[in-house]
Amino acid sequence: MTTFPRRPPLSPATRAAQALRHVDAYGGGVTPAIDLSSTFARDGDYAPRQSYIYARDGGPTVEHAEAVLADLDGAAASLAFSSGMSALIALMDTLRTGDHVAAPAVMYHGAIAWLRRLAERRGIEVTFFDATKDGALEAALRPDRTKLLWIETPTNPTWDVIDVAAAAEAGHAAGARVAVDCTVAPPCTMRALELGADFAFHSATKYMGGHSDLTAGVLSAARTDDLWDEIRLVRTLTGGVIAPFDAWLLIRGIRTLFLRYERASASAMAVARHFDGHPGVARVLYPGLPGHPRRDVAARQMKDGFGGMLSILTNGGQSEARDVARFVEVFIPATSLGGVESLIEHRKTVEGPASLVPETLLRLSIGIEDPADLIADMEQALDRAGCARGT
Ligand SMILES: Cc1ncc(COP(=O)(O)O)c(C=O)c1O
Repeated sequence: MTTFPRRPPLSPATRAAQALRHVDAYGGGVTPAIDLSSTFARDGDYAPRQSYIYARDGGPTVEHAEAVLADLDGAAASLAFSSGMSALIALMDTLRTGDHVAAPAVMYHGAIAWLRRLAERRGIEVTFFDATKDGALEAALRPDRTKLLWIETPTNPTWDVIDVAAAAEAGHAAGARVAVDCTVAPPCTMRALELGADFAFHSATKYMGGHSDLTAGVLSAARTDDLWDEIRLVRTLTGGVIAPFDAWLLIRGIRTLFLRYERASASAMAVARHFDGHPGVARVLYPGLPGHPRRDVAARQMKDGFGGMLSILTNGGQSEARDVARFVEVFIPATSLGGVESLIEHRKTVEGPASLVPETLLRLSIGIEDPADLIADMEQALDRAGCARGT
């Protein structure tokens, strides 16, 4: 099982690389074994041998992943789910009719869809605020009625930045719990709980897994209490737990998280800088660019890079933007983010007509390839699509 570091404090990067210094008790393996059991034998007194009873509540491999995750997030506890959405839904399932939730108007569209559904079907009031406007978050809170302030930073797919510490303070002053979707700013760069949040949420399908080969979600809590127990119960009753094999893939992914994120951040910065002011591009949205309105906030709370996500607004219209996504040869036209391979996506097409996303926006997830190849690929696609014409 897991052997914790003998001489703390070791840095988070060291602990992540060694998956909490794992040496298998059975054969000395330096990677954990996968325990696929769906049920666990009881002892002679009919008590569980360890804490394990049935896999819908977790098991040894899931627990190992959760120990690594809690360490990474600096959390009292973490729970691993079968997807980001199942983690989000478990948290939001604890809301009651009449409760109020505040959230950004532009963020991951699945979160918006679920909040709209709660508003329609469960009588939960939701206020979506414009995260780019100073004071809008505070104005969206209803003292003593807002039970949850859900934020995402940087926000998908415009990469606006929300000040987590300030949001946590405002949320707590209103009596709300504060949850941060840290999918794009995982704990190798931002530790939301240390900034004051109650919950750090991750779609671990993205940077934490890192190889586009699993779906997983994570909730980490600053403290364990009745609400945390309720979230765990929802996971058990809905079967939202991560599968053991995916928990193992997640542990493996986390071992290289710091390295991958550092590389993706450096390459994204190079791509952003190259296309900022390019004749085929109207705007580049990236928190690391000097012109980003909240670069200082991003730099304060993202300690180790601004991440691999950026968007470009191409010159021309929707059809030129979609042509760029068709003409790329190195970027892969696919949804998702945070993997080792670079992806491109025409976000408006994916989100549908109700989306507020500009029709010329292309979302880029920068992977770990040579950034020169990515830049050259985008150059040729912009050229072929005729984006620079007429400028
Ligand atoms: C920022 C963000 N949050 C949440 C999710 C949902 O996670 P999953 O797809 O793992 O359910 C995603 C997925 O794209 C995301 O990008």
